[in-house]
Amino acid sequence: MIQSTSVESNSARIVVLISGSGSNLQALIDAVDMGAINGEIAAVISNKPGVYGLDRAKKAEIPAVVIDHRDYDGRAAFEAELSKTINSFSPDLIVLAGFMRILNSEFVQPYEGKMLNIHPSLLPKYKGLHTHRRALENGDKEHGVSVHFVTAELDGGPVIAQRKVKVENSDTEQSLQEKVRQQEHQLYPEVVAWFCSKRLEYKNGQAFFDGEAL
Ligand code: GRF
Repeated sequence: MIQSTSVESNSARIVVLISGSGSNLQALIDAVDMGAINGEIAAVISNKPGVYGLDRAKKAEIPAVVIDHRDYDGRAAFEAELSKTINSFSPDLIVLAGFMRILNSEFVQPYEGKMLNIHPSLLPKYKGLHTHRRALENGDKEHGVSVHFVTAELDGGPVIAQRKVKVENSDTEQSLQEKVRQQEHQLYPEVVAWFCSKRLEYKNGQAFFDGEAL
């Protein structure tokens, strides 16, 4: 097993897209700083101004860009600017970390195989919003988080890895969210590290880890 402990000159360039607090972004920043990811965060892009994730980027001296979707006349115009900006950082990997815009297939297609998303459910369960509430309403005994490659289907690309949490009778939407969030912060850096060390690949719509189909 090849495990990188330092940022090498051929380290992967990562662009992170956010819309909010950026706690997953922080987990990635910390993992890069610790040398757990053979990569560097080249830029953070937010579709919302003033969010805390932008402060995290600035504190880490990572270029932070706001592309406010409300400034654009429709989804296609917003996405055109978004892809132009992403491409200007020449990324090897694009990481959606709480990025709350639905993306058109025309936007996603050129990035297929190099764009990851984290979703707070055990996919294919609970695509979309309010996942913790839905797990509670359905009386699920377990819940969790998934990291997947992004394809044109919302929360529908091939799943790479999941972490489970137990749902207790006493759990509320908030307590469940906190438990899942803790798992997210461990899982996402791990998967990003796999991608950057080329252990994780995407071929013909399928995810592979160390050459084995997942
Ligand atoms: C996380 O729960 C993630 O799974 C979902 O959006 C949330 C982002 O949180 N896609 P943060 O901005 O990383 O704190």
